[in-house]
Amino acid sequence: MEAQITVLSTRHSTAKKHFNSGIQSLDSYLQQYALQDQKRLQSVCFILENEQAEIIGYYTLSASAIDTEHLDQHSLLMLGAKYKQLPAILIGRFAIDRVYQNKGMGKLLLMDALKRCTKQAEEMGACAVFVEPIDKRAHHFYLKFGFRSLPQQPKLFIPIKTLQALFNAFH
Ligand SMILES: CC(C)(COP(=O)(O)OP(=O)(O)OC[C@H]1O[C@@H](n2cnc3c(N)ncnc32)[C@H](O)[C@@H]1OP(=O)(O)O)[C@@H](O)C(=O)NCCC(=O)NCCS
Repeated sequence: MEAQITVLSTRHSTAKKHFNSGIQSLDSYLQQYALQDQKRLQSVCFILENEQAEIIGYYTLSASAIDTEHLDQHSLLMLGAKYKQLPAILIGRFAIDRVYQNKGMGKLLLMDALKRCTKQAEEMGACAVFVEPIDKRAHHFYLKFGFRSLPQQPKLFIPIKTLQALFNAFH
């Protein structure tokens, strides 16, 4: 299957109506709010689609910051934290359509998101990627890819330095 990843636009209006990840809030976000948020520069939504222009999955990215008081000692050391707030990138929403789940599409889309975050971080300065998993299942999905949990926080993070080492090893 030839898949491509593009920024959400009005071209996706029909396809997004059929998107069904099994989690209503993630579907309705794509269908009703993602384009609005993008126009207001609150986030950018990336769409994975197939040759038939069906939406396989999507994710959103936003510039973000994390308060160092939410980080444990080990995380502070990992991120080289020096200031009260650290620049970061947030993967706000992430979902794969039910038809395509468990077929490696989540992995493909997450790798795209993390590569994009690494590139952006190298251009504007950000030391970590954060996610807020919607449930336990999603939490485990991110753990599998090297994200770290934070104590007393629903968020998980991965340092950009870890991603640089990962992606540079494949160049
Ligand atoms: C969670 C979700 C993104 C995973 O996507 P997916 O396409 O089904 O996952 P993949 O097929 O790419 O799986 C990639 C790897 O993660 C593993 N994995 C998938 N879901 C997992 C889970 N819940 N817990 C642990 N591992 C998981 C797979 O076994 C696979 O491992 P492998 O490479 O060793 O075989 C997808 O099921 C989904 O969109 N669910 C509904 C919405 C949601 O939960 N979004 C999460 C962000 S809030």
